[in-house]
Amino acid sequence: MMHTSDYIAKYKSRFIEELMAFLRIPSISTMPEHKQDIKQAANFIKDQLVAAGADKAWIIETTGHPLVYGEKIIDRQLPTVLVYGHYDVQPAEPYELWNSKPFEPLIKGDKIFARGAADDKGQFYIHVKALETMIATQSLPCNIKFLIEGEEEMGSGSLTNFLEDSANHNLLQADAILVSDTTIISMDQPSLTTGLRGIVYLEVTLTGANRDLHSGVYGGAVANPINILCKMLAALHDENGHITIPGFYDEVPDLTVAERAELNSIPFDLEAYKQTLGINEVIGEKGYTTLERVGIRPSLDVNGIWGGYIGTGAKTVLPSQAHAKVSMRLAPNQDAQKVMNAFVSYFSSLAPKGTQVAIKPYHGGCNAVVLDKNSLAFRAAENAFETVWGKHPFTTREGGSIPIIAKFKEKLGTDAVLMGFGLDTDAIHSPNEHFSLIAFFKGISTVIKFYENLAALYKK
Ligand code: BES
Ligand code: MN
Ligand code: MN
Repeated sequence: MMHTSDYIAKYKSRFIEELMAFLRIPSISTMPEHKQDIKQAANFIKDQLVAAGADKAWIIETTGHPLVYGEKIIDRQLPTVLVYGHYDVQPAEPYELWNSKPFEPLIKGDKIFARGAADDKGQFYIHVKALETMIATQSLPCNIKFLIEGEEEMGSGSLTNFLEDSANHNLLQADAILVSDTTIISMDQPSLTTGLRGIVYLEVTLTGANRDLHSGVYGGAVANPINILCKMLAALHDENGHITIPGFYDEVPDLTVAERAELNSIPFDLEAYKQTLGINEVIGEKGYTTLERVGIRPSLDVNGIWGGYIGTGAKTVLPSQAHAKVSMRLAPNQDAQKVMNAFVSYFSSLAPKGTQVAIKPYHGGCNAVVLDKNSLAFRAAENAFETVWGKHPFTTREGGSIPIIAKFKEKLGTDAVLMGFGLDTDAIHSPNEHFSLIAFFKGISTVIKFYENLAALYKK
């Protein structure tokens, strides 16, 4: 029987070609015109799981985008791992800033460029190829279940509904949940993510007059919703970078000296950070380091703002409406619903007479998670990194959100292990997203080692 590393080496180019086929599907979950592509991506994964040797795999229809489930059960006495990932991607706009087409994957050096390369198709595909390799080399030591969704980038509504129904819990029962949808510190320094921030996302619309007006005839006499919206948004932070929504910090825990020391102990070069971003200074909440600001403190950002005339040339218009998309990242212990309500009442109160505010949430949001560092699965992951990457992994707290992780804990009682292989510089959600193929192949070996370790730990 072939060793796993020989098997991976032998089929290396096929693995890459398959990943490229996956990346060619523009499965953008938030755009209704891509519904067929979403379907195609779900079917692609289902077929790939079967081809890898899963006992069975099927599509689970939802009121939104389909889920894909697959499993390989070898022995009910052995530990079972649930692998979660998402096949949906973010929109690729702005297209003109891409050096290659977002849905025509391109390999340059050791990197593969495409929307979804790192988030999350490339990272998730590691698990499909790890499964294939272990089955083909008869070295699979655990039972594996796969659950892949197509709505992660829009809040995981359908999967949340699926989890709300306890009739589905048996299907998903597992000793550990394994997810590759986060980052490591660098290619020289692996890490495991032990916390993610939560999120609340809303769109606000401010309306003034009942139609667009001539800015000469009416300017200075009637509320301009753009002028006012900018002021309202600016009022959401004070001069110290604190969020001004009343009660916003009530549930945010104070960090202990030890927690702060741990958070700041990971290798982090602020100068290099600024340099890669092309900025000469960082900003943020006063009294906190950059790692604390993104890892553990809440934040509020305008994600988009529009209104009035933005076409070529000047048009003298006093717009009737102005719009903005606003997101808040939440610290552990903050409740997404409570934060949403607090935002709605405070933001509405900022609107002066003569204007009206409408606020619509995009999804239920999610709470932050802090994960168990003492579980057998976490130890199996630590050791897998140590073996394959030659260094003990640091633990990190990341600022991004994966909505279903908190729901898994709540509904199934199981913590996830966030064994990501991305890098901060992969440009996820940005033009020229890419993923290191070295990380991809090291990822396959790391995942295989994880299963080996987990089976051994359960035997003890
Ligand atoms: N994989 C990311 C989350 C992430 C990125 C975690 C980097 C840690 C490091 C995920 O796909 C994502 O983008 N989530 C969204 C969730 C939202 C749309 C509900 C996010 O964080 O914006
Ligand atoms: Mn992701
Ligand atoms: Mn994402």
